[in-house]
Amino acid sequence: MTTRVPVKSATAPYEVVIGFDVLGELAGLVGAKDGTGAARVAVLHPSALADRLEPVLEVLGAADVSTLTIEVPDGEAAKTADVLVSCWDRLGEAGFTRNDLVIGYGGGSTTDLAGFVAASWLRGVGFISIPTTVLGMVDAAVGGKTGINTAAGKNLVGAFHEPRGVLCELGLLQHLPEVEIRSGLAEVVKCGFITDPQILDLVDTAPAALQQWDSPELGEAITRGIAVKAEVVAADLTERTSSGSDVARELLNYGHTYGHAVERHENFRIRHGEAVAIGMVYVAELARRLGLMDDALAARHRTALAAVGLPTGYTGDWAALRAVMAKDKKARGTTLRFVALSDIGQAQMLTGPDEDVLRACHEALG
Ligand SMILES: NC(=O)c1ccc[n+]([C@@H]2O[C@H](COP(=O)([O-])OP(=O)(O)OC[C@H]3O[C@@H](n4cnc5c(N)ncnc54)[C@H](O)[C@@H]3O)[C@@H](O)[C@H]2O)c1
Ligand SMILES: [Zn+2]
Repeated sequence: MTTRVPVKSATAPYEVVIGFDVLGELAGLVGAKDGTGAARVAVLHPSALADRLEPVLEVLGAADVSTLTIEVPDGEAAKTADVLVSCWDRLGEAGFTRNDLVIGYGGGSTTDLAGFVAASWLRGVGFISIPTTVLGMVDAAVGGKTGINTAAGKNLVGAFHEPRGVLCELGLLQHLPEVEIRSGLAEVVKCGFITDPQILDLVDTAPAALQQWDSPELGEAITRGIAVKAEVVAADLTERTSSGSDVARELLNYGHTYGHAVERHENFRIRHGEAVAIGMVYVAELARRLGLMDDALAARHRTALAAVGLPTGYTGDWAALRAVMAKDKKARGTTLRFVALSDIGQAQMLTGPDEDVLRACHEALG
């Protein structure tokens, strides 16, 4: 079954299409054959997908556009200034004009890079995202954020550039390692806690199926996760700051304050989703100790995440982790900010919680 999630954006609205055999829709996104559509299309893809370009190239061939494939390094290694420059060079050699298009075909790393190539070439050409990981579908493909890393940190250089459309071809998940499926599921479970309890029901009833690339449950969970992200982003198109009880787009950072610190403290040897899973258990414990969340919901964080094979404990050194948290680009000065829940879908910001409680929650994860 094919599902469509409409996304409001600061520029033109677009759709995320989710299902099996949806790549044919690329033809419509690329444009008409009558000369009004794109003449050239660049497909940025990681080495891991070099053998799986055929379905995309077939559709582009039938649409009569000249296609340039640009292979970039796998994963995070694609998000560098050097790779960005090499992509600009390829577009320059091929004579890319404002009318032409960039397609990102890969995980979140590839689509972040490809989106930024599209945002920066001639100050912005059309972009189509074909995310091929669960995380790429649920998180990176909606919201318009594109960018690369620098020596100073991740995602420090970038632009908002909305895609013309997003195609989530579930068949592409077949070769994705299960550990990557689980990592993406962490963001889906997050969407359950922050907005959509039906996702948590799926976790309760079908935890094994959720980890299988071709299960209807995974397809439904991905669709629901995308819908949550689209809704939150649409309510906050200008990415305002949360104020008072209004959490705005920061809601999507649930579990990320502690999670980012774990990721950085572990030098990114731990996957993003795994770190976010640990971060959600941490912030649930924090909310519980501060009397916001009841014991049952805090316990549900651990059981739900463990059910889909995600980690729920962490024993790293507190002092070092706390120092990393203070340096988070999203922190304001040295005051820590956490998105916390009092119930499913009921969020508020916690600013500068007591240091002893912060430490005790960390110790409770050990
Ligand atoms: N723009 C945003 O709003 C946003 C949101 C969340 C995350 N991100 C970014 O996304 C990136 C992480 O994305 P990710 O988790 O998708 O990882 P990734 O892009 O690094 O991909 C993980 C690995 O899987 C491989 N791969 C991708 N698709 C595959 C497939 N179908 N079959 C087999 N192998 C495949 C990749 O080559 C890579 O080696 C980070 O850079 C993060 O900053 C961006
Ligand atoms: Zn995340």
